Amino acid sequence: MQHELTCGQPPHRSVIRIENDATDTVREALRARRPGGPVAIVADQSVVALAGRIGHALQGIGIDARICTMVADERAKSLETVGALSAQLLTHGITRSGAVIAVGGGIVGDTAGFLAATYMRGVRCIQVPTTLLAMVDAAIGGKTAVNVAMKDGSLAKNAVGAFAMPELVVCDPGSLATLPPREMQCGLAECVKHALLADAELAEWLVANAMAVVGKDTAAIAALVARAAAVKVAIVDRDPTEQGERALLNLGHTYAHAIEARHDDRIKHGEAVAIGLVAAMTVASRLGRVRHAQVEALQALLERVGLPTRLQDLVPAPDAAATLRRCMDLDKKRAGKGLVLVLPQGPVGAGLVEAPPEEAVLAGWSAVGAA
Ligand SMILES: NC(=O)c1ccc[n+]([C@@H]2O[C@H](COP(=O)([O-])OP(=O)(O)OC[C@H]3O[C@@H](n4cnc5c(N)ncnc54)[C@H](O)[C@@H]3O)[C@@H](O)[C@H]2O)c1
Repeated sequence: MQHELTCGQPPHRSVIRIENDATDTVREALRARRPGGPVAIVADQSVVALAGRIGHALQGIGIDARICTMVADERAKSLETVGALSAQLLTHGITRSGAVIAVGGGIVGDTAGFLAATYMRGVRCIQVPTTLLAMVDAAIGGKTAVNVAMKDGSLAKNAVGAFAMPELVVCDPGSLATLPPREMQCGLAECVKHALLADAELAEWLVANAMAVVGKDTAAIAALVARAAAVKVAIVDRDPTEQGERALLNLGHTYAHAIEARHDDRIKHGEAVAIGLVAAMTVASRLGRVRHAQVEALQALLERVGLPTRLQDLVPAPDAAATLRRCMDLDKKRAGKGLVLVLPQGPVGAGLVEAPPEEAVLAGWSAVGAA
């Protein structure tokens, strides 16, 4: 075994293993604590081969494993999919003493996690994340959710969900071999976020090792996942149900959500987060919370790992700052309060700032190239 972390307290405790063979790890976990009857493997269609290997290994020790696939699309991360999967689990005879094994990125992990939290009022859940983002973020900490399609066609992201810790999270660096480079970079954006929140040395590590990670060096990926996941684990341990500190994981996300709302077709979430981090760091600099050199250091780090720092990197004609600023208010209306930003503070760390000065918020947009 390469690395092991634990998250939460019994009975809501996850073991996170970073291992070279997810198949062996899942089989041994279920051999040690056998389910009563069949288990379901809910798999992203892109990693169905890995799901098949896990299923085969479980059959080898006499556990009946049924594979159910789903498409990794935000529209499929829905109550309808959970309903359809529940019907499949019932057909396969999966009972309360069964288990759900999620194999895929954050979309499958969130959906299958919610399925496990609610099917027969809750069954065991094992997460096998297959994107870098899911390994360092989505699969950790027990937040499960699905989106809700609204009558006006918009998608209310993560509107229905539950806190339910998976008993085991297995991160197999080799499973990222087929992950497209742009998805790797999206995961790296969350790693940069974790470095800003709590681990200055991780930023230095990323400068030195980003190319090895992008090149899918499994030792480098394992080291990165262990370190970046540890940041999330520490925050979740202190605030498991997001009463306060866990909200800091949204660093860069208020800007990112506005970017995604306007340019969803061209910009991926991790890319929007990268640009959002630069905007948030700029606001923090304006407010004297960080030194200006930190804005430049962040830009250099993001460029080093191949992430965008300005809207122009991905969108030929970005929106006006005022338009993007209004999109931040849509988030605000949902939350029912004024604009609240997570802003970096000091050499490392962040805090919540309510009603930041308008001039500084707009300076954030200008810094990332809004018209
Ligand atoms: N629960 C949480 O705490 C939490 C935290 C962060 C994000 N999320 C959620 O995670 C989701 C985003 O997750 P994501 O970035 O992993 O995206 P994703 O699940 O959409 O996966 C990205 C793409 O990679 C493909 N893919 C996955 N694994 C692959 C592999 N090994 N090889 C080839 N292709 C592969 C998928 O099919 C998809 O096209 C969002 O829905 C977000 O809301 C949840």
